[in-house]
Amino acid sequence: MNKILVSPSLLSANPVDLMKDAASLKEAGADYLHLDIMDGHFVPNLTYGPKVAEGLFGLGVPLDIHLMVDCLEWAIPAFAPFAKILTIHAEATRHLHRALQLVQSSGCRAGVAMNPATPPDFLPCVMDNVDLVLIMTVNPGWGGQKFIAPMLEKVSWVREMFSKAGKDVDVEVDGGVTGDNARLLHEAGANVLVAGNYVFSAKDRRQAIHSLRMGTIGHG
Ligand code: DX5
Ligand code: ZN
Repeated sequence: MNKILVSPSLLSANPVDLMKDAASLKEAGADYLHLDIMDGHFVPNLTYGPKVAEGLFGLGVPLDIHLMVDCLEWAIPAFAPFAKILTIHAEATRHLHRALQLVQSSGCRAGVAMNPATPPDFLPCVMDNVDLVLIMTVNPGWGGQKFIAPMLEKVSWVREMFSKAGKDVDVEVDGGVTGDNARLLHEAGANVLVAGNYVFSAKDRRQAIHSLRMGTIGHG
């Protein structure tokens, strides 16, 4: 089984001291920094623009950029120069295949995200242009929400579907992830864990990141 990579979400950071919080996550051993981009349309909240991504890029931790925006034609080229992983929502475009091709041709790993109510059955049609599948385990828009347990089944379905096709893919989960459900999520097939509230509410961020990785115990 793939080892767990931890991608702490900066949505729970202090927005007026983002660099300091981001540096603390680097120090604490984060594999990625998860940057949630919200446009006030796709989700009813607003976060950061490309200038902020550019500033964070300078820290040297790979950015895992989660676009919760409608206007992908603008957002993909605007954020791609700073992203290691660039994830778009399946619900945000009528032309998902083309949008994923655009992400890959921009030099990023292409992620496709799904809201909790979105069935994953479209994935076989785009699998050649997908490097990562992001399964939302809360409804997007805010941090600190409760994990939606039936999403575990979606994680298993996605992992199995790609395995049967002989394809390796990263399966990322985002929302309500904690040290308590990390192991279950990993057993279901997730290998990239996003966590905002869990990491930022911990006294020791390094320890919180470590406890998320503990999901790998016994699985190599
Ligand atoms: C929600 C965001 C998440 C959020 C997760 O729309 O996509 O990345 O920060 O936060 P927690 O881990 O607090 O549920
Ligand atoms: Zn996110």
